[in-house]
Amino acid sequence: MSDIAVGIAGLGRFGQLHAGVLNSLPGVRVAAVFDPGPDTPEIAARFGAPAVLPSFRDLLDFPGLDCLYIVSPEDTHEAMITEALEVGLPILLEKPLALSSAKGAEIASMAEARGIFMQIGFVLRFEARLAFLRDQILNGSFGRLVTFRAKRNCSRSWYDVYADRAHAVYETVIHDIDYLLWIAGSPCKKVYATQRNLSGRTYPDATMAILTFEDGLMASIETSWLVPDQAPANVLTNNWGGTIDAELEIVGEHRSARLRTLESGLEIWGDQYSHHLDAGLWPEINGVIAGAIRAEDEHFINIVRTGESSSITSVTDAVEGLRIAEAIERAAATGSIIEL
Ligand SMILES: NC(=O)c1ccc[n+]([C@@H]2O[C@H](COP(=O)([O-])OP(=O)(O)OC[C@H]3O[C@@H](n4cnc5c(N)ncnc54)[C@H](O)[C@@H]3O)[C@@H](O)[C@H]2O)c1
Repeated sequence: MSDIAVGIAGLGRFGQLHAGVLNSLPGVRVAAVFDPGPDTPEIAARFGAPAVLPSFRDLLDFPGLDCLYIVSPEDTHEAMITEALEVGLPILLEKPLALSSAKGAEIASMAEARGIFMQIGFVLRFEARLAFLRDQILNGSFGRLVTFRAKRNCSRSWYDVYADRAHAVYETVIHDIDYLLWIAGSPCKKVYATQRNLSGRTYPDATMAILTFEDGLMASIETSWLVPDQAPANVLTNNWGGTIDAELEIVGEHRSARLRTLESGLEIWGDQYSHHLDAGLWPEINGVIAGAIRAEDEHFINIVRTGESSSITSVTDAVEGLRIAEAIERAAATGSIIEL
């Protein structure tokens, strides 16, 4: 069987992570890339990409590709995915699908009408502990879910990159919304939220939301970009380091669960700062990137190879996630309760 040839648009932090994973999967190769950054030829060479193209259009027209990855900044996704869907190849689009649910729904319909498989980069669906927990919830052992509490605070140093690109609801909270939709089994009906902006940047530094679901489930989701630089780092890759201080607590009728990313089990202490290595998301182990991102890429490539449908990812949930995200954004901006 011939290799799966992948085209990648966007070779920043996450594009490089995906490229590294893809190159380490058997029978897969990064064949062509496009990124407008000045260092692209040098970065592409590290991943052995034979074609470095001068425009996204050239990438879409590159002969012999089997699938596309779009790993560019959030505010470029809508235009790029719309153009890419014309080509007809399966696409892994990093989150968010779009920056509004209306646009997300339009893109979802376009993909469905053309019969194109589109996977949105909701990596938590591939995190082993979270996927295991979902199975436990779905097999009924928790009983009805009562509360869901998620926190996703990220390094202040990353704020320079992400702060002015999109509101945190589309950046960080969207992961927890998607996981919640994956386990909830009932639609979200009501959203209240509040936020603070101390830095004066385009979007708030911190947001807290309370959601209620039709079956009574109560959820709270919070995020901030204010984790100090000296906090224990749990994200360590060649081009990227820092802290994702994420917590999850789920209370059901019969059982409860708790997960904290900083309680990784491995702590390495230094004079300047310490590492609490997260092995769930994208640890580098024995020279390859493992964890959820690897499982996510393997899943996508397997679908490209077999043409099967996905039992894990859901574009419908991605659109619903955007509906909730924009309700949080609106509720926080206006102080009102949004009924969905
Ligand atoms: N799933 C996750 O946990 C996760 C984590 C981080 C980032 N992401 C997502 O990955 C995407 C990229 O984020 P990042 O952290 O790599 O950002 P980044 O800023 O490190 O990299 C973005 C890259 O895209 C390039 N770029 C800009 N405009 C482009 C265009 N029109 N076409 C192609 N490339 C373009 C930039 O030159 C840059 O190299 C975003 O959607 C982000 O939300 C997902």
